[in-house]
Order: sequence, then C-alpha cells, then structure tokens
Amino acid sequence: MKAFGILGFFWLVSVGWVCSLDKGYAAPSDSPLIVDLTLVKSAGSEGALCLDGSLPGYHLDLGYGSGANNWVVHLEGGAWCNDTKTCVARKKTALGSSKYMKPIPFVGIMSNRPEENPDFYNWNRVYVRYCDGASFSGEGFHFSPFEVLYFRGERIWYATMGDLMSKGMKDATQALLSGCSAGGLASILHCDRFRALFPASTKVKCFADAGFFLDVADIAGHRYLREIYNGVVDLQGLQKTLPLECLYRMDATSCFFPQNLVANVETPLFILNAAYDDWQIPESLVNPQADPNGLWMGCILDYKTCSSAQIEVFQDFRLQMLAHLKEFSKSHKNGLFINSCFIHCQSEFNNTWFGPDSPSIGNKSIAESVGDWYFDRAVVQKIDCPYPCDNTCVNHIFKKLSWASSLLKLSGGDDFQQYVRVKEGEI
Ligand SMILES: *[C@@H]1O[C@H](CO)[C@@H](O)[C@H](O)[C@H]1NC(C)=O
Ligand SMILES: *[C@@H]1O[C@H](CO)[C@@H](O)[C@H](O)[C@H]1NC(C)=O
Ligand SMILES: *[C@@H]1O[C@H](CO)[C@@H](O)[C@H](O)[C@H]1NC(C)=O
Repeated sequence: MKAFGILGFFWLVSVGWVCSLDKGYAAPSDSPLIVDLTLVKSAGSEGALCLDGSLPGYHLDLGYGSGANNWVVHLEGGAWCNDTKTCVARKKTALGSSKYMKPIPFVGIMSNRPEENPDFYNWNRVYVRYCDGASFSGEGFHFSPFEVLYFRGERIWYATMGDLMSKGMKDATQALLSGCSAGGLASILHCDRFRALFPASTKVKCFADAGFFLDVADIAGHRYLREIYNGVVDLQGLQKTLPLECLYRMDATSCFFPQNLVANVETPLFILNAAYDDWQIPESLVNPQADPNGLWMGCILDYKTCSSAQIEVFQDFRLQMLAHLKEFSKSHKNGLFINSCFIHCQSEFNNTWFGPDSPSIGNKSIAESVGDWYFDRAVVQKIDCPYPCDNTCVNHIFKKLSWASSLLKLSGGDDFQQYVRVKEGEI
C-alpha cells in the first residue's frame, strides 16, 4: 500500500518512530483496564460516518462514587489527510474505519486508578476514536467512479456527543473535553460547542494536549504545515465548520491554527504542549523537504547530538510558541503547561501524566497541574525555563527514522512499544 508512504505525513496520535525514552520508569504492578469499542448506532441516519462509510465509535468506562456525574471526553489524534490519496489510505486503518478499531487500554488521563490519575479516575471517561482525518471538522464527501470518501468529522462530533448525552452526560455536573495532537486541536475547535451542550450550572472546561500546532516557517523558509492545512481545509470543506468569529477575521486555513483561535475561546481552556514538540519539529519545522540532505537527521533522532546552532532553532520555535500564547494567558481562567521537553502527547501515557518520575514544573506533575486548574485550586500558567534546565522530562530518542514511512498505531496505546512502524510497501 504505497499511499502510506507520503513523506511520513501519515502520522499518529503520538510519535511512532522506533524510539526509546531516556528515562526509565518503575515496572507496573499489573496491566491496565481494557475498554471495548461502542459504535454510535444513530450516526448512520445522520450521515456521520468515518472516511470509509463505517460508523464512528468510542470507548466508555462509566464513573462511580463522587465521579458518577462527571465526564471527561477525550478526542483521539492521528494527524490529518490532505488529499484523496492520503484519505483513501486511511480507509484501511482505524484512522479511517471502525472496522479496524480494537479495544484499547485506559491509561494516563483515561486511567481508572487514583494512583495514576488522581482527579479523574472515577469520572465517566470516554475515548472518542478519530476516523475522519480532519480533527472532527470535515463536512462533505468525495465521489468518483473509483473512490468514495466521507468527510463527516463535524457530524461525527455531534452524533457522538448526542449519543453520550443520552447515556447520561446530559446530567453531568462537571465535564472536561480533552484531546491529544489532532484531537487536541479538535478540543480547541469544539470547546465552546461542547460548553453549549450543557446548562450554565454545569462546570465545563477544555484541555488541549500537544494540539498547539504553529504556523511557522520551516528551516527552508516555507510554511510547510500551512500547505498541508490548505489541503485539509479545501478537501474536507472546513470553511463550513471552523469557528465563525475567526472566519470573519481571517482565511479558513489560518482558522485551523490554534494561535488564531485560543484567545477567543470563551470556555476555560488549558494548553499543554512540549516546547520542542517532537511531532512538530520533524514534521513541520525540519520537514524532509526542508532538509533534503539530511543534515538534521542526527539531531532529530537524538536531541543530545544537536549542535548549538540547531538548538538555537528550537529555542526560536519555543519563543514563537510562547509569543502566540501571550494574549491567551492574560485570562486567568486559562491554564498553561509548556515544558521544555522533546515529546508529543503527555496526557495519554502513565509515565508522563502522573507519578514520582513524571515531567513536572515547580514540583507539580501534569495531572496535578490540570487538576489544580480544573478544580480552581490555583491559577496554573506554567512555562518552563528553556532547554536544558528541566531534568524531569521524559524525552524521546529515536533509534531509527525514515520519513518515507508510515506509522500505524495498532491497539491504541499506553506506550511506544505499542506503536509499530510500518515501512512503505509492507502493508
Ligand atoms: C504504565 O505503562 C507501562 C508502560 O506502557 C505499562 O506496561 C503499564 O501497564 C502501565 N501501568 C498501568 C498500571 O497501567
Ligand atoms: C498533501 O501533503 C503532502 C505532504 O505530506 C504534499 O506533498 C501534498 O502536495 C499535499 N497535497 C495537497 C493537495 O495539498
Ligand atoms: C519539591 O518537593 C520535594 C518533596 O516533596 C521537596 O523536598 C522540595 O522542597 C520541593 N521543591 C520545591 C521547589 O517546591
């Protein structure tokens, strides 16, 4: 299946390169809770379908005790598809079809254990699968004599929320919309719509992990991610669904970039992002087109081998990220955790979300910081000192890197061992 080889564009929720962590963690006592897939049965009549026309789905573990009326809804990520070729490729995977979705382990913010997930473990916890290729925001279709593609992310969003409301979410007293990567972007895009599902008496907030994708010039001076977003927006009809207050001000592609959205989200929002997000660095800032001779390869594989000039480029990326968060952070209702680490998606793994060795700023882990903000225990706006001062990071180091490869997340995941790299032509 050649289509998978589109310059490593077919990325996953989290970094899927064969990689290791430069810090170990304690052996687990036992294995995590595995949660089955629930299909959204009503979605068919609403035309809310995955790319291949199958029903969308989610995984739900019901809350209990003090969490019985609280809901955390987490949106899965997995990059985007920007043309028919990359979208067609997804139809044979769980990122485009529920036929391939399997039960998944609940870890990190989804965990049912207080020792792993202190504030949300007994809430109703929902992991919504991503099968539309446009951050739950497409509206349209592509019919040709050869292929049919459904671009129905926006309908999947509404059908799934409707289904969850009927399963008890309508009675929620507290709710949190979260998401990672393309799902983190989706949680920003849908934040105020999520709020609008509930009465004013419900406490509602949103949390975007690794979804702060920057509109930056790459090392060759091109806005590479913007080119990809142009394709996603045009192909999937996002002009119809992106936040109107932004569309009044800017072109549609700009309105798919969080930097142009977050200051105008009315609902309290928490942005968690690594300053050296290791999806954005190799896929946007130092993408393969910008580095045809592979001069950055060693540095991308292992940040410890970067030259000081290369580190400067990362520092500049960090400063751009911080600049785009300035307006957003003027409001104390918003939360911030920008740690100076080389990683992507920290809420979905048990060693980055919470624990004695998990990443922290000022002695507080990510889980504690998000909890402090959600429950108004404190104003949480944490910005780490620049690399290399943080010794709590769980940084990724890659053993191997091939841009002309695709990465498939096989069973959903609690760790990189579960991510398998599939070379072009192998599937
Ligand atoms: C924490 O993560 C490790 C590594 O993925 C995993 O083996 C372990 O089962 C997890 N712990 C629990 C209790 O879920
Ligand atoms: C989609 O993205 C790839 C890069 O991953 C690019 O080469 C291609 O031209 C894009 N297609 C469109 C229609 O924008
Ligand atoms: C962090 O926590 C440890 C152990 O609780 C404590 O000894 C230390 O003083 C704390 N450091 C800061 C900066 O708060």
